Amino acid sequence: MLEGKKIIIGISGSIAAYKTAALTRLFVKAGAEVKIIMTRAAMDFVTPITLATLSKNPVHSNFIKNELGEWVNHVELGLWADAMLIAPASANTIAKMANGICDNLLLATYLSARCSVFIAPAMDLDMLAHPSTQANLKKLGDFGNYIIDAKDGELASGLEGKGRMAEPTELLSEIEEFFSKSKPLSGKRVLVTAGPTYEHIDPVRFIGNHSSGKMGYAIANELDAQGAEVVLITGPTSLNVGSNRIKRISVTSAAEMFEATISEFVKMDIAVLSAAVADYAPQHRSEQKIKKAGDELTIQLAKTKDILKKLGELKTDDQLLLGFALETENEVSNALKKLKEKNLDAIVLNSLQDKGAGFGHDTNKIDMLFKDGRHQKFGLKTKQEVAKDIVEEIIKLIHA
Ligand code: CTP
Repeated sequence: MLEGKKIIIGISGSIAAYKTAALTRLFVKAGAEVKIIMTRAAMDFVTPITLATLSKNPVHSNFIKNELGEWVNHVELGLWADAMLIAPASANTIAKMANGICDNLLLATYLSARCSVFIAPAMDLDMLAHPSTQANLKKLGDFGNYIIDAKDGELASGLEGKGRMAEPTELLSEIEEFFSKSKPLSGKRVLVTAGPTYEHIDPVRFIGNHSSGKMGYAIANELDAQGAEVVLITGPTSLNVGSNRIKRISVTSAAEMFEATISEFVKMDIAVLSAAVADYAPQHRSEQKIKKAGDELTIQLAKTKDILKKLGELKTDDQLLLGFALETENEVSNALKKLKEKNLDAIVLNSLQDKGAGFGHDTNKIDMLFKDGRHQKFGLKTKQEVAKDIVEEIIKLIHA
């Protein structure tokens, strides 16, 4: 049942749009509150008045509500929904969604929605099989959307093949199943830090490090997949998060990361600090570019604030705190020292002695050391697999 769930049904131009009247009725009967957004093309197949009556809500299609300039707030609509179902999703709408185009209300709402999005393609078999449509669907799946596969059968073109939109009853049960499956981290708020920090020397130079951010981003994506509400505080990287449910806060320096992390931490159940934060930063940032002068140049560095240590001091009994340790020698004893001194529940140890581990690689090899003395070793894996291992351990800690 969908009692109390808020659902947006987005309808694009395909003959399967005629089925959305039955679809809307099924959702309303299941207890959902439904709001409909249609593209212009969808209106050639089903009328807004039918859907407004069945959904018991006005149907939206334009950014502007009336000639007085009142506008439909797509951000508000996107935030209102617990789930968004785009059915039917035409090849054109799918292509635009995959590329961030938002030239209508449906697409703008999709781009600003933070809820889970389900996409039910409907089109002719050759359009669906075309490599560009397949690549777009793969991209949308990789963004964290759920694709509800089109079915085989007779198509509007008269051809037989795959391209029919899944039946309304099937769309309903997919979404009911999604809500009934409570994920292990549903309702948990998790903070992740990732990437390097840049400490400015002058307007053109900085002190940085080789962290790519890949490990932290993989952890944020996996936490999101397990149902957590994720806030990612990231230093400069070229990476994107896998889902628009993840709230991303971009910072540059250790001082900025400190401020952002401290202010978010009170709201969190769990924090995983994987960022490679500079331990020292130039004491003074030169306003002007430093000109070449003598044979030597000395830059005075001052210690940055240790974010992880501060969180260890602030941590309540209900919060879990995990840190990382990147070591080149006496790995386990150094990591254990950090675990204790920073008041952590667990620490993830990376050794630069291990081939394929640490900065820059797509793989990593970790050990996890726990407050209760447990020491868990893992093999060389992709960073996505390592993220799964870490998140699995977090889930065990929560349920311990
Ligand atoms: N860390 C942090 N703030 C800092 C420095 C580090 O939050 N100013 C965090 C990192 O995100 C990581 C952990 O502390 O989770 C350990 O970082 P690491 O550089 O290995 O250890 P340090 O405590 O800085 O000690 P050292 O550099 O001497 O090994």
